[in-house]
Amino acid sequence: MGVLRVVTFLFLVSCVWSSYGLCGTKPAEVPKAKTIAELAARYDSSSCQECHEEAYEQWENSVHAVSMLGVTLRTAPTILTAVDKGLKLFPYSGVKEDKDITVEHLMFCAKCHLPQLDEATDDVAREIVKTIRDWQKAYADDDDDLIDELEEKIASLNIGCMVCHNKVAIIHKWQDGYPQPDTVYGALEGEHDDPAYPKMAKAPAMSESIFCGQCHGEGPNFELDQPSQCATLYGTYLFTYIPEGGHDSCQECHMAKCGLGHDMQAYRDETMIKMALDIEVDAMAHFWRKNKAEGIIPLGVVKVEMFNKCGHAIPDG
Ligand code: HEC
Ligand code: HEC
Ligand code: HEC
Ligand code: HEC
Ligand code: HEC
Repeated sequence: MGVLRVVTFLFLVSCVWSSYGLCGTKPAEVPKAKTIAELAARYDSSSCQECHEEAYEQWENSVHAVSMLGVTLRTAPTILTAVDKGLKLFPYSGVKEDKDITVEHLMFCAKCHLPQLDEATDDVAREIVKTIRDWQKAYADDDDDLIDELEEKIASLNIGCMVCHNKVAIIHKWQDGYPQPDTVYGALEGEHDDPAYPKMAKAPAMSESIFCGQCHGEGPNFELDQPSQCATLYGTYLFTYIPEGGHDSCQECHMAKCGLGHDMQAYRDETMIKMALDIEVDAMAHFWRKNKAEGIIPLGVVKVEMFNKCGHAIPDG
């Protein structure tokens, strides 16, 4: 009886969901993008700017907007290191030269740095590696125009609006449905003014930490043939902050309380730095007579107590 009731309840719940247009069956696979330009155009955020100016300007300044290049220009070169010192040296990766690289190989970084890469052909994976190599060569050659052009190309691949508001918006897809190609996901539902995406639907976990946890990592990515480990902060959030009684979500600290909205920042931002630590410093002078010859030795005693107020260990990544 109990089981039947649960089944009926689930059935009803799923019907209610579908009637709100929340449920989506798995959409037909979109044709694979064949070039960087095609993939970038599919996830271009600039069309959202005119109506969502604030979100756009905040996002544009965020690390997500340069998730392949890196704000410090470190990410792209590190991807090459992963290719040259990883993939090419691993005996069973199938990669001996750049021409052997496939999307699957780059996914051990792109899973989080560019999840939409799984909608592209292997040619795009090779084009990415080639573009980063050409960019580094342009630096060596001091060719400023080419540096700018290639930097822009690498930066065109990023975690844009539709990565978060569509591609990774729904986490429990069997329950909540698959993201649909004509819909933006957020807190609202109904019609959306943008003719390219005429519908809005609710993404039930968008305001929850688990949403950010998809990329901010728990540890090694065991689901991959070759697990990688980069970001582990969601793990420390779950296993240290929450058990200690912490209850803020990532969004509460990184979007709301700091007032930065879509410009999710960390140690590069004054407000975040101020939110990070409580530091108590106590200092005193101390004089110590060691022996007659050396006389009095002045010492300083400094006592520092640091309390981490972030919802996780720092630093990370
Ligand atoms: C022509 C104007 C227009 C364009 C272009 C547009 N939007 Fe919107 N969008 C709106 C309006 C209006 C709303 C409803 C806002 C409200 O009712 O508070 C909205 C709502 C949304 C919401 C739901 C907001 C919430 O509170 O959950 C999301 C997400 C969203 N848009 C994302 C996007 C993205 C991503 C793009 C670019 C692909 C985009 N929009 C382009 C006008 C636009
Ligand atoms: C589980 C998701 C995930 C995977 C997989 C991943 N990264 Fe990251 N990476 C992140 C996140 C999130 C950050 C930044 C946030 C942080 O510091 O925790 C980051 C930060 C970085 C940084 C630091 C950027 C800077 O400017 O400080 C580099 C470099 C980097 N990643 C390269 C790579 C490379 C190369 C790979 C593949 C071998 C990879 N990552 C795989 C999620 C990931
Ligand atoms: C890294 C993921 C991420 C990216 C990228 C992103 N958003 Fe959001 N967005 C969110 C989350 C999470 C919320 C919900 C915030 C909350 O619940 O506190 C949100 C909320 C919104 C809302 C609702 C109102 C508001 O401002 O809170 C709009 C509109 C929106 N985003 C538009 C955009 C647009 C336009 C872009 C691109 C310029 C964009 N978002 C990029 C994660 C993202
Ligand atoms: C699709 C994957 C993805 C999602 C979803 C995502 N992030 Fe990120 N985030 C990244 C990556 C990758 C980086 C680092 C890019 C780099 O430096 O190369 C990053 C960087 C950051 C940074 C900057 C770290 C630094 O070193 O300055 C902050 C803060 C951040 N994310 C917070 C969030 C929050 C909060 C959410 C949820 C609302 C979120 N992210 C959702 C992938 C993601
Ligand atoms: C209680 C507030 C709070 C919560 C909750 C929180 N953060 Fe943070 N986070 C901070 C502050 C403050 C910093 C700045 C300190 C720093 O970067 O060293 C920070 C730093 C970061 C960084 C940069 C880490 C680094 O290398 O120093 C990332 C990435 C990040 N947070 C993502 C997240 C994600 C994802 C979540 C949710 C799983 C989350 N944060 C939850 C307050 C919070």
